[in-house]
Amino acid sequence: LFSAVELAPRDPILGLNEAFNADARTTKVNLGVGVYTNEEGKIPLLRAVREAEKARVEAGLPRGYLPIEGIAAYDAAVQKLLLGNDSPLIAAGRVVTAQALGGTGALKIGADFLKRVNPNAKVAISDPSWENHRALFESAGFEVVAYPYYDAQTNGVNFEGMLSALDGYAAGTVVVLHACCHNPTGVDISDAQWKQVVEVVKARQLVPFLDIAYQGFGDDIEADAAAVRLFAASELNVFVSSSFSKSFSLYGERIGALSIITDSKDEAARVLSQLKRVIRTNYSNPPTHGGSVVAAVLTSPELRATWEQELGEMRDRIRAMRKGLVERLKAAGVNRDFSFVNAQRGMFSYSGLSAAQVDRLREEYGIYAVSTGRICVAALNTRNIDVVANAVANVLK
Ligand code: LMR
Repeated sequence: LFSAVELAPRDPILGLNEAFNADARTTKVNLGVGVYTNEEGKIPLLRAVREAEKARVEAGLPRGYLPIEGIAAYDAAVQKLLLGNDSPLIAAGRVVTAQALGGTGALKIGADFLKRVNPNAKVAISDPSWENHRALFESAGFEVVAYPYYDAQTNGVNFEGMLSALDGYAAGTVVVLHACCHNPTGVDISDAQWKQVVEVVKARQLVPFLDIAYQGFGDDIEADAAAVRLFAASELNVFVSSSFSKSFSLYGERIGALSIITDSKDEAARVLSQLKRVIRTNYSNPPTHGGSVVAAVLTSPELRATWEQELGEMRDRIRAMRKGLVERLKAAGVNRDFSFVNAQRGMFSYSGLSAAQVDRLREEYGIYAVSTGRICVAALNTRNIDVVANAVANVLK
């Protein structure tokens, strides 16, 4: 049965974790996967999460099956976070939300559902995009194309190229957009540009699929949801995959959501019924722990305030690390202007390092980054930043 099975390549991001874990060097640094680590180099357990977990354990609750679409309080809290407390769409019952297995799980159930309702559509992702987007939509049976996004000359966005590609797509094309903190580049478009994107998507009758895995890592919770809210106000049917992996530091709990904006309450009920079939045949229903913890934090004013403060601390520390890296690279004699790193948002920096330079960083210094040159600045701290800056300076010589 398996004699013809070929060895698959390692995952471009999670495969780096495997290699990193197998590396015996004590000085190694993992700037590959998008995970925030604190000053001590550890993944934090947020205070708000710890409080909610404590209460949950003390309550000694049973662990029955959840509804297929997850915890109702969780789904409602997700909708408010994405669309705002006063969203008329929520009030009208037009938004469907299902708890999902992280942002990836949300994308997957969204893709599977789309394949049922829009089977012949192409899916357009940004060039470049998160490594898993293409594979995910291809595995759901879609042909995936890419629209221009990053401009390496300016370290910015080729906005004209992006807009004209969107303008050329056939009606029904699914357009995957990073709502904030673009992964892998860290380069976002402005609110004014988002308005233009919404206009083109609407005029061409495209299907927007917004991926928001870093809400709160750009400016703050509300500002980072601007693109989602612009699309929500556009009267389009919108897909949104969201994740609490990073913002709650709950990576391993696999806690995210898929939200779909429909035209009416009646349509929402029908869409949810079909989405439930997709979920049931994928993993039946979601796990209890992460969803209950996030729901408890988001529905308690005290825990929510603590969480927002902790999220702000993570955001500020990442910004300080960006600044520190730029300064140290300059101090190490690097001529190339790296100040663009300060303008990038979220966990990542598209550093401009070549695949060969990334290979040298790994082989000679035990510093792991994605072969595209993406580095996770959220994994820098005052202990490893000098080592990283000096190593980058050396491979750039
Ligand atoms: C990343 O881009 O590193 C994260 O989103 C983790 C992942 O699943 O790839």
